[in-house]
Amino acid sequence: MLKLIGVETFYGKIKALHGVSLEVLEGQLVCILGANGAGKSTILKTVSGIAEAEYGSIEFDGQRIERMDADDIVRLGMSHVPENRHVFPELTVRENLQMGGFLITNGTTFSSRLEEVYSRFPVLKERDRQLAGTLSGGEQQMLAIGRALMLKPKLLLLDEPSLGLSPILVSEIFETIKDLHRSGVTILLVEQNVNQALQIADYGYVLTSGKILLSGTYEELKKEDRVKEMYLGEGKYVRRSRLWGT
Ligand SMILES: Nc1ncnc2c1ncn2[C@@H]1O[C@H](COP(=O)(O)OP(=O)(O)O)[C@@H](O)[C@H]1O
Ligand SMILES: [Mg+2]
Repeated sequence: MLKLIGVETFYGKIKALHGVSLEVLEGQLVCILGANGAGKSTILKTVSGIAEAEYGSIEFDGQRIERMDADDIVRLGMSHVPENRHVFPELTVRENLQMGGFLITNGTTFSSRLEEVYSRFPVLKERDRQLAGTLSGGEQQMLAIGRALMLKPKLLLLDEPSLGLSPILVSEIFETIKDLHRSGVTILLVEQNVNQALQIADYGYVLTSGKILLSGTYEELKKEDRVKEMYLGEGKYVRRSRLWGT
């Protein structure tokens, strides 16, 4: 479904990605783990065409996309939920979802997609006419995901959906992601909640300073001292007990 080979992305002269290669198969939930500044968001931005890959190739659903514009990539069936959600605060919940469905020209399709999103997130239906800026952080995250689902994407990119949420809401968001995965959506997830992300993922990649350091399943990665140490070093975000349940 998605394959990156040797991808390098720059911000000006600064190289943010140093030859990143990774793969997401159809139906998989794959996560990218790594500390702040590792380049996780840059991978998603490069895949969705917001940032440009200077070198390397990106294949999506059988097509090379590394030179395509972001809106053409959306048309191919990829939705990107950016870090910090970025809902339109001055628009209502419904208007935000309409923005997400901007490519849908058929009214019946639009209504049925809206109903699908509302049945997945009943709280959004209740808040249909409410301004998005007045929603809680968790509700805004659901809206951001709902907006991305309006196009029924083949691949969903999720950038730190649990960021800034209370522990209960974090669990709720992970349940939501698990449900999406179960219903067949292919997902590339970026997270700092290592333990929870890996538990629901089929496969994980660990990124440090723009390079893939390790990859494997939860069972494989949780045995890696390097992974534990790296995240232990990040004590201000996550404690060991929360990471690996030890
Ligand atoms: N717009 C930008 N301009 C310049 N440097 C950036 C920009 N965005 C990110 N960077 C730098 O690129 C590196 C990777 O950032 P990012 O992909 O946001 O990391 P992560 O999502 O893992 O926290 C960091 O060193 C960051 O400072
Ligand atoms: Mg980021």
